[in-house]
Amino acid sequence: MKAVAVIPGQSHSVHLRDVPEPKLTDQPHPHVCKVPEGRAVKIRMLQVGVDATDREINEALYGNAPPGFEHLVIGHESFGQVVEVGDEVYEVKPGDYVTCTVRRPGGSLFDKIGRNDITSEEVYYERGINLCHGFMTEYVVDDAEYVVPVPVKLKHLGVLAEPASVCAKAIEQAYLAQHRLQVWRPRLAYVMGAGQIGLLATMMLRLKGLEVYTLATKPGPHLKQEITEAYGATYVSTRETPMEKLIKETGKPDIIFEATGNAGVCFESMKYLGLNGALIWTSITGGKQEVTVDGAKINLEWVLGNKLLVSSVNGNRGHFELGLQSLSHGVLTYPGVTERILTHPVKGLENYATMMKLLEDKEALKVYVDIQG
Ligand code: BGC
Ligand code: ZN
Repeated sequence: MKAVAVIPGQSHSVHLRDVPEPKLTDQPHPHVCKVPEGRAVKIRMLQVGVDATDREINEALYGNAPPGFEHLVIGHESFGQVVEVGDEVYEVKPGDYVTCTVRRPGGSLFDKIGRNDITSEEVYYERGINLCHGFMTEYVVDDAEYVVPVPVKLKHLGVLAEPASVCAKAIEQAYLAQHRLQVWRPRLAYVMGAGQIGLLATMMLRLKGLEVYTLATKPGPHLKQEITEAYGATYVSTRETPMEKLIKETGKPDIIFEATGNAGVCFESMKYLGLNGALIWTSITGGKQEVTVDGAKINLEWVLGNKLLVSSVNGNRGHFELGLQSLSHGVLTYPGVTERILTHPVKGLENYATMMKLLEDKEALKVYVDIQG
């Protein structure tokens, strides 16, 4: 069967290759974890999304092949349909729509209790990213433990399940951490960045009743602004409105959700957070970027203001479920909006080169491949 792969360490090596179709009895990642007897699920992949992580993997900045392979099948944002299940699988059946979690458990205590998203080991195993083959292929097999059902009525947004899990987790982590304050009723949020993560975070924060300002550089009108506004949030071009001016108008936010992929913005955001607030970092910044800030001022304000920085990556099964719930809630509250994020479908795995090229396009909110063409 066809698969899209890279040779980790070799820049721009993305290619189409022939790989064996997996059987239900295969062990997909024997070097990491074993699928227990009868618990395997075979999935026909329908759509797989790509993001900046895939771009960095193809630029050889990130990612490793599984032991014994020179290639890594990419793809970590999965959506498919179950074709076959083992005797001990009761959660899904053939025909069901599903997505898969990304990380597989290592050996730490967190991994053992189903929290591989916060593993305390340096080495982490992620399908399509690090040391495990991904989903950008025709069929995959995995442990039912990592297969999450997608409601039929949400199948048009199934490919957003993984990014939604990342956002849902990050927001949940901030709320959990803010229990330190005993009472916390955030009212105002800034979302830095209006890519897929920024827009999904905008939706989720709006669904929690917050007033949301979503910030990006480019002045509107454009799709990012339209989607932001359709979620009932305000789009701000930082090129048109300086931060100081915005802060004067709105006051300092209780939450800043950072999702620009720019390390400068991550640190810059520290200047704008309100008292007792939470700054959420989700950007994955490959490469090197030096940043200058007034450390004394930020430290003073953060200490005197009891401010909190929450960093969050990945999502486990529960976060996928939470992400899917938010997507469903979003469909009911803002009908027809979230699908507008799905800007750039590519037909068939053989068009992988077009797909990777589209990742360079700043206007492309979501590039994904329709595997069945
Ligand atoms: C993925 C996460 C993953 C992270 C780090 C992101 O692009 O969506 O699931 O944990 O990269 O590799
Ligand atoms: Zn990702």
